[in-house]
Amino acid sequence: METIVKIQQVEKGFGNELIVKGINLDVKRGEFLTMLGPSGCGKTTTLRMIAGFEEPDSGEIWIDGKPVSGIPPYKRDVNTVFQSYALFPHMTINENIAYGLKMKGVPKTEQVARVKEALRLVQLESFGDRKPRQLSGGQQQRVAVARALVNNPKVLLLDEPLGALDLKLRKQMQIELKHLQQKLEITFIYVTHDQEEALTISDRIAVMNKGVIEQVAAPKEIYENPSTKFVADFIGDTNLFEIKVSPNGDDSVLELLGTKVGGKIRDRKLLTERTYLSIRPERVRVLNQGEDAPYYLSGTVEELIYVGSFIRTVVTLPQGQKMVAMMQSNGDQPCQPGDRVRVTWKEEDGVVIGQ
Ligand SMILES: Nc1ncnc2c1ncn2[C@@H]1O[C@H](COP(=O)(O)OP(=O)(O)O)[C@@H](O)[C@H]1O
Ligand SMILES: [Mg+2]
Repeated sequence: METIVKIQQVEKGFGNELIVKGINLDVKRGEFLTMLGPSGCGKTTTLRMIAGFEEPDSGEIWIDGKPVSGIPPYKRDVNTVFQSYALFPHMTINENIAYGLKMKGVPKTEQVARVKEALRLVQLESFGDRKPRQLSGGQQQRVAVARALVNNPKVLLLDEPLGALDLKLRKQMQIELKHLQQKLEITFIYVTHDQEEALTISDRIAVMNKGVIEQVAAPKEIYENPSTKFVADFIGDTNLFEIKVSPNGDDSVLELLGTKVGGKIRDRKLLTERTYLSIRPERVRVLNQGEDAPYYLSGTVEELIYVGSFIRTVVTLPQGQKMVAMMQSNGDQPCQPGDRVRVTWKEEDGVVIGQ
């Protein structure tokens, strides 16, 4: 697929502090790409550089094949939707959406038609004459989206646009935004610190940590094959252990707590000085009495918690580490707190990663 936004070796600092540390990213035309990372990792700064509100200290950004350094925001083919909708309170919804078109000198009849179309896209056709305060939070957010879409941008930038909404509405709006993006086939670059939101909404996710992009991949790949310890830890729940890896011919032997265990090394290049094994809780199994397995770790059941149709079992391993297993509860109780048990996992479910 064709690249619409290219970020090459971009660095940005404020004062003495380097905030964005030489990132590279190719965003494809028509994709929904999410930049995900904890607060303060540099997501907004990156988005603002794409929009033109900040200039990189070094590196270059291309939009639709053209380098954009020095080009002001209003001349770039992008529009931004912010968390604070920043609607003008004294103007009607129609006037709010038309504002940018009016500034650009778009003829009145065209303004009216485009505003109508933008409102139709966000399903607010009949709300054009109202003032922002007469709309709910979710509706105001949709107006903010319509106001950006009315300019027909090639790329829509969204910075935590659902952050102010309550959970239920946020989930509903996630689906709405996803559908809208699929229908319009506009490229969305979306910023959030919410990993669940990123997994739900994105074609691809760029996971950011301390000004560095650690991994760019589809949600399933990010979840199942995290390439760093940070990504494994930040996305979903996981059991993470430091392991010993020793060569054995073309193969490797993985050792955890002195036991030979199973795991896959997807890419040797990812291995760093310290090596970790990540096993998702839903892939961990507590063995039944008398059941055999190629490898297992012994421990003591610390607690069982019923989470809907799952039982979350915490097992304490010999050196005090915890292994969490999420198992489907099928009626019979497999173990009790205090029981000695053995836990195992399939080789392909143990993901070997570096720092
Ligand atoms: N204009 C600025 N001046 C000084 N520091 C800034 C400025 N903008 C952002 N920062 C700092 O850069 C860091 C990253 O900010 P930001 O990109 O907003 O992170 P995120 O959006 O991932 O939460 C923060 O420590 C923030 O305080
Ligand atoms: Mg931010």
